[in-house]
Amino acid sequence: MPNGSGVPGMQPALAGSPVVAGDTNRFIDVLLKGPAAVLAPDREKFSNVMPPFAILGNSDLASLLTYLRKNFAPGTSEVKPEQIAARRN
Ligand code: HEM
Repeated sequence: MPNGSGVPGMQPALAGSPVVAGDTNRFIDVLLKGPAAVLAPDREKFSNVMPPFAILGNSDLASLLTYLRKNFAPGTSEVKPEQIAARRN
């Protein structure tokens, strides 16, 4: 949702998400590989499926992740294109 809240059972909230606010490499990997390949198997389940977004370029992904942090995890660091590049296989 525009304010970062989720939809119960369908989409997790991004506002307050420990993934958005937490370890930068894990946050990047969730976008590059998709949540299912990265997050703990015993996490809360949702009916939607999020695809990987490795098709996006490094600067687009860096802008996207920085936008999420600025809006939904104030005070956390920006994400730079070089950090995205370093996480690609
Ligand atoms: C580029 C746009 C997107 C961004 C930046 C994004 C970001 C994220 C992040 C950071 C998480 C982890 C949240 C957490 O676990 O606390 C997440 C999970 C999730 N997203 Fe996305 N997402 C995007 C697109 C989508 C789309 C298109 C869908 C489906 C229509 C989707 C559905 C989901 C679902 C269902 C989860 C939970 C997945 C799981 O735990 O297996 N996302 N998303």
